[in-house]
Order: sequence, then C-alpha cells, then structure tokens
Amino acid sequence: MCGIVGYVGDRPCRDLLIAGLEKLEYRGYDSAGVSVITDGEIDSVRAVGNLANLREAIDEHGGDGGDGGVAVAAPPATIGVAHTRWATHGRVTEENAHPHGDCADKIHIVLTGIVENHAELRKELEAEGHTFSSETDAEIVSHLIERHYKDDLAAAVRGAFAELRGHYAFVAMHLDQRDTLVAARKECPLIVGLGSDENFVASAIPAFLAETRRVLMVENGEIVTITPDGAEITDADGNPISREEDEVTWDEDAAEKGGYPTFMKKEIHEQADAVAETITDRLSGLDSVDLSGVDLDDEFLRTADRLMIVACGTSYHAGLVGRYAIEQWARVPVGIDIASEYRYRDPVSRPNDLVIGITQSGETADTLAAMRLAGEGGSKVLAITNIMGSQATRDADAVLFTRAGLEIGVAATKTFTSQVAAMYLLALRLAELRGTMPPERIAELIAAIKGLPSKIDETLAKVDKRAAAIARTHKDQRFFLYLGRHIGLPICLEGALKLKEISYIPADAYAAGEMKHGPIALLDEDTPVVCVATDSPVLDKVLSNVEEVRARGADVIAVATEGSDRVAEVADQTLFVPRTDWMLQPILAILPLQLLAYYIARENGLNVDQPRNLAKTVTVE
Ligand code: AGP
Repeated sequence: MCGIVGYVGDRPCRDLLIAGLEKLEYRGYDSAGVSVITDGEIDSVRAVGNLANLREAIDEHGGDGGDGGVAVAAPPATIGVAHTRWATHGRVTEENAHPHGDCADKIHIVLTGIVENHAELRKELEAEGHTFSSETDAEIVSHLIERHYKDDLAAAVRGAFAELRGHYAFVAMHLDQRDTLVAARKECPLIVGLGSDENFVASAIPAFLAETRRVLMVENGEIVTITPDGAEITDADGNPISREEDEVTWDEDAAEKGGYPTFMKKEIHEQADAVAETITDRLSGLDSVDLSGVDLDDEFLRTADRLMIVACGTSYHAGLVGRYAIEQWARVPVGIDIASEYRYRDPVSRPNDLVIGITQSGETADTLAAMRLAGEGGSKVLAITNIMGSQATRDADAVLFTRAGLEIGVAATKTFTSQVAAMYLLALRLAELRGTMPPERIAELIAAIKGLPSKIDETLAKVDKRAAAIARTHKDQRFFLYLGRHIGLPICLEGALKLKEISYIPADAYAAGEMKHGPIALLDEDTPVVCVATDSPVLDKVLSNVEEVRARGADVIAVATEGSDRVAEVADQTLFVPRTDWMLQPILAILPLQLLAYYIARENGLNVDQPRNLAKTVTVE
C-alpha cells in the first residue's frame, strides 16, 4: 500500500509534496521519490530508504532550497507528483522507486496498488519499441499513456485506464500540460484536496490535511482532471460526474489513523484492500493461480512429499487454516508446529519436504530459527511474509509476499487475513499442479476468492454495530470460551488471542468435540461461549456442541453464515457473515471476533494499539 500525492497550483510545490509524503509515512515504505515540471523538463529525484534519504538525494541533486526544480531552477515548480513505495513488484531499488517516466520522459506517474495484467502489457509495449527502466508493474502506466497521448492528457489516461486491470490508483502529469494532473481510481482510495488557486490529489487525506480540509471523494472507476482552478470528475468514458465537496473534521492524530480512533480499527478496515492486493495479480486467470513470482519450481511443488508449517502467534493460526485448505484441496500431508517448539524438538526434516515459515514481520526469532533448522536439514524453505527485505526473505529459498502494507497495531488483523489468502493461493496452486481437483472446482474457488475483498467490506459494515453492542454487555466478563470445529477452530484460536492480547481477559479456545473431555467443567451460568458456526460439513456437530454448553447455562455468541437460521435458533446472539465457499468462510468469520475483542478493550478504556507486555515484532528468543 504505497502513498501518492500530487499538487498543482501557484505555490512552490517541492516541500508541499515532501510534507505530504511525511504524512503518509504511517503507510510504511521502502523508498520514495518526487517529480516536478520546471524549466521545460521534468526533474525527478528518487531514493531508497526513508524520507531523510530522499531529502539528502534532493540536496545532492543540487538542492539550494531555491525550490526551483526538484533542486535548482529559475521559476519555482508549481506542479508535481510524489510517492512512498511499499514494494510488491521489483526489488527495493532507486530504479524501481516512483515516479516512473515514459520513453521521452515527458509523462511521469505515481501509482498505489497492483496492475494485474502488467506482464502482457509490457510484452506488447516492448514489441512496439517502448523501453522500460524498472522491474515494476507501475511503469506500464506511463508507457500506456504515452501510447494514447495526442495532446490531451485526460484522453490518454482514459485510453490507458481502459487497458489496465487490477487494484490501483495513479496520478499522471505531462511536460506539455504544466497546469494539469490527471488521476484515476480502480478500487484503491483516491481523494482530491481543494484549495484556492491550487489543488491536491492523494491516496489518503493526511497528505494535504495541513493545507485544506475541503475534499472531493473520487469513486471507483472514476478519472479526475485537476488544475489550479478546480477538479473535474468523469467516468471512464469521459462523461462528467458532479460531486459535492466534503469538509474533513479530523484532528492530526485521527488523520494519521485515516479518520479512525486507533490504528487497529483502521487496519481492520484495510483488510479488503490487503486481501485484494495479496491476490490481485496472482489470480489474473479464471482457472489458474500464478505464483511465478515465488521462486519454487513446479516440479518440486508437484512432487514434494510433505509440507511443514512453522510460525508463532497469529501467523501460526493462519498456518492452521492453510493446513486444512492444502490437505483438503491438494491432498498433501501437512504438519504444523509452533516455531518455538519445532526448533527444540529435533524435528525430522527431509530434502523433499517444503517447510513454510509464516511471519508478517519477517523478523520473529523463533520462526527464523525454525526455518534455518529446516534448511540445515535439507528441506526447501518458503517464507510467507509481509515485509520486503526482512530477515526471513534472506533466509528462505523462496518468498510469497502478503501485501497488507505496514501494520502498526500490535494486534495483527490485516496481516492475518492476507496470510490466510496467501495460504489459499498456495493450496490451490498445489492442487492444480497435482491434479487433485477438477478444473471447474479450481475455477469456482478462484472466483470465490476474488469475491472476498468486497465480502470483507460487507461483513464489517454489517457486524460492526452488533459486535459493539455485544461488547458493551460483556465487557465485565472475566473469562471467555471459544469453540469451533475443523476450519472454524483456528478462527477460535485467533479470536481468543485477540481478546487476550488487547483486553487482558482470560480466554480459552477449544475444539468443540474436545469440550466434554474437560473444559466443559469451566462453564457456569453466563459464561460467554463464542462459537464459530459457519456453514461446513461439520455444522451439525457444532450445533450439538452449542446445545451442550447451552444446557449448562452458558451465554452463546455465535458467528454464522447468512441465512443459517438454525444457528440463530440455538445461540443467544448471532453475528452473520456473507455466504461464500465454506472453506473460505474463516476470512470472514474472524472479522466479528476482531471487532468483539476490539470493542471490549475499548469499553474498558484500554490502549488497543500498544497493549501491555507486547511488542509488534518479537526478535528475542
Ligand atoms: C498477534 O496479534 C501478535 N502480535 C503476535 O502473536 C504475532 O502474531 C507473533 O508475534 C508473530 O509475529 P510474526 O507474524 O511477525 O512472526
């Protein structure tokens, strides 16, 4: 999740753009850049690392504070674009940092998100003679605009927009049109900041909030042309769309949190984007999963004897979901272990094993040690991580990146759902290569996975208030029991972990079938029992377990699939999630549990972003 900002107006814009990037730093990044039009050319500076590096590069570029070009020029530049990069395609290098130019260096663009069909478009454009200077998917856009440009930037952007597929937003400028920026939105957020004789465009409001509180929301599939005098929104065919401007009332702190009261709540609401970016260009086909970016050859994936997952905390729970999917779809035996146990139990790892280390930070000491141990045993090691350049990416033989963007809240949310999405991709790819599922079933699951981002937003919109209400009536409870079966069990473990780590209330998660072997003794009148009862082949079993706890007076809070009235009949409160393939329900079922834990902690006045005794990354043994 990159950060983009553009300015056109009458003020020198370099520092305004850099200040905008500073306000987007919370989105996380590994490199940055800025381009401005000055003195008959586009002047651009990019740098790997943080904004201090970019400032340094600007100074070396000959910055004199004159604020002319990016560095020095007579008339100060009053139009420009800038970017903070969260690498997804192409290594963390200066060449891959944005802004990206076209062959003639007359068009510069900044993009956030993913261009799904970048590979095929690059082939076409190279065949037409275009030369590329980066490994990124984003650079496609500047060359596509170049292909369509005939003296009208907005028309050229419409032409490019029609050919692009994916999940993105971008801003473009052309040397010959020094008072015009044109931006386009396909899913990823894009907002215009309205000023007098100047306007901004950015991926998030904080980028220009210090300059204006008047905003124009750009909706999905729209294109906006911005000049110093105003902003005109059209649909993808150029038909004008009128839009009321809004007033932003957030303070600086809220701004950094995207208008949410906490980072955790912001990140809960970023899950649709996180999952979309994690799957977008890996599911570009209808019936096949493209993991070509993962350095594991198909023959090995087809013939590996066994998979072994090692991870800690929330990542371990994502691994548990992955195990169910891989065994169910690809019929490969999958072992899983908590990394801090795996590394000391002298595990058996063999050359034809694939060991998967799941770690969002890529720096968790126990998981890294477990991965290294497996590698020493001759096994192939795959890292599933969210951070490019992290230790896990250096230790592993191959890396499958989740693309959740920086997660600041200590309690993992969007990295969990994007890890689960990544596990589904791996499971489907293994099934494809091993021929363990008919192509129609694979196509069906691919379509269902592509539908998850919108179902995530739908779920959050539907259950938010209800979860808050249940939290209000349960905030003083001193113990919670979570029960689930099959693919619902990892979701119970994760829901219980969220409650424990941010509300400090003791909670236990148990396989529902195991209850009668002991934990049922914990139940008394009013013990809240949270039950994951989404549709699945074991739902009847789950319902009979619900009856068991109800018979002991427990207060049952159930998560169920929409339309599944049987659950609502036996539970005291039911939180419904939209229907999707039963094996994919976990990505939706965790959402009400994240919110329940969140609201209970908030009701008790706790700091959910930085809970006591916890660190975001556990680099100690
Ligand atoms: C989850 O909310 C916690 N922050 C913690 O359990 C975390 O999942 C664990 O430390 C693993 O971190 P990793 O994914 O960065 O390896």
